[in-house]
Amino acid sequence: MSISFEGRVAIVTGAGGGLGRAYALELARRGAKVVVNDLGGSRDGTGTSDAALKVVEEIKAAGGEAFADGSSVTEYEQMQALVAKTRETWGGVHVLINNAGILRDKTFTKMDPVDFELVVKVHLLGSAYATKAVWDLMREQNYGRILMTASSTGLFGNFGQANYGAAKLGLAGLTKTLYLEGAKYNVRVNTLAPVAATRMTEDIFPEEAFKLFAPENVVPAALYLVSEDAPSNAIIGAGAGAYHSAYVTMNPPLILGAEDRTVEGFAANWARISDRSGDFVPQSGSEQSQAILAAMQAASKA
Ligand code: NAI
Repeated sequence: MSISFEGRVAIVTGAGGGLGRAYALELARRGAKVVVNDLGGSRDGTGTSDAALKVVEEIKAAGGEAFADGSSVTEYEQMQALVAKTRETWGGVHVLINNAGILRDKTFTKMDPVDFELVVKVHLLGSAYATKAVWDLMREQNYGRILMTASSTGLFGNFGQANYGAAKLGLAGLTKTLYLEGAKYNVRVNTLAPVAATRMTEDIFPEEAFKLFAPENVVPAALYLVSEDAPSNAIIGAGAGAYHSAYVTMNPPLILGAEDRTVEGFAANWARISDRSGDFVPQSGSEQSQAILAAMQAASKA
């Protein structure tokens, strides 16, 4: 079964290079009309360039349709203008891949609050702004596919990336509420944690690994997650041809008797409270309270 994007309009942020470029090329190859957004700055977010234009030229040379946009995801008005222009040009927006990103790595001790702010601004607020700009339109269309780009740093942590990790897990959190709010309108929202050899990772990967982790290996996961039959609320990891799921889980709540509801009682029960047997994946926050109530009912009957 071939997966087509014929008749779909897609916006990919930060698509002037790396992963975003690979997504944009493949979306266009599969029939989508693509907006290639990229500010074109350096890895730390400074400067601008015509990176987006070059990718548009590549798409056009291959017979696809695209236009370039040099605006910054950090500016909500610019995201609104981008969506308005896309709607005017092609009549709608069906796919949004929030991919733009920068790095300002330092240990938390050495990190300037400005570096924290800017990284959160580009990744978390930038994705929220671009999403907010397409949201009402997707609801009206009764169709929308949105992908947030998280990272293993957000999901699991990484030394020297406190700013980046906070922003990236924030994006998984954004997915978890938007998937609920979008469900009625056929708007599906997913999170991708890619691993790829790009300028973002060029000083991290050894040379052999660089080839293995070609961005093209992430494309199948990213495009499936914004396709018509995409799931919603998935967290998918992808790199070097390996694909996996990640989940936020909880274990069944342990009800402590009234006499044990003390700091000492909590400490004495730590092994049971942190025991992962029976872990499950709540589909919304309210399932936490439901699980608590169910455990209390079960305890009162026992
Ligand atoms: P990249 O640096 O090649 O791509 C990021 C693009 O975003 C750049 O072209 C940059 O100009 C653009 N950009 C930065 N700030 C922008 C802004 N304010 N507005 C519009 N565009 C802006 O790096 P890569 O690796 O392709 O990263 C893509 C996404 O994947 C990022 O969100 C990154 O955090 C994420 N990621 C990448 C991993 C990897 O192994 N390469 C691992 C985990 C996450």
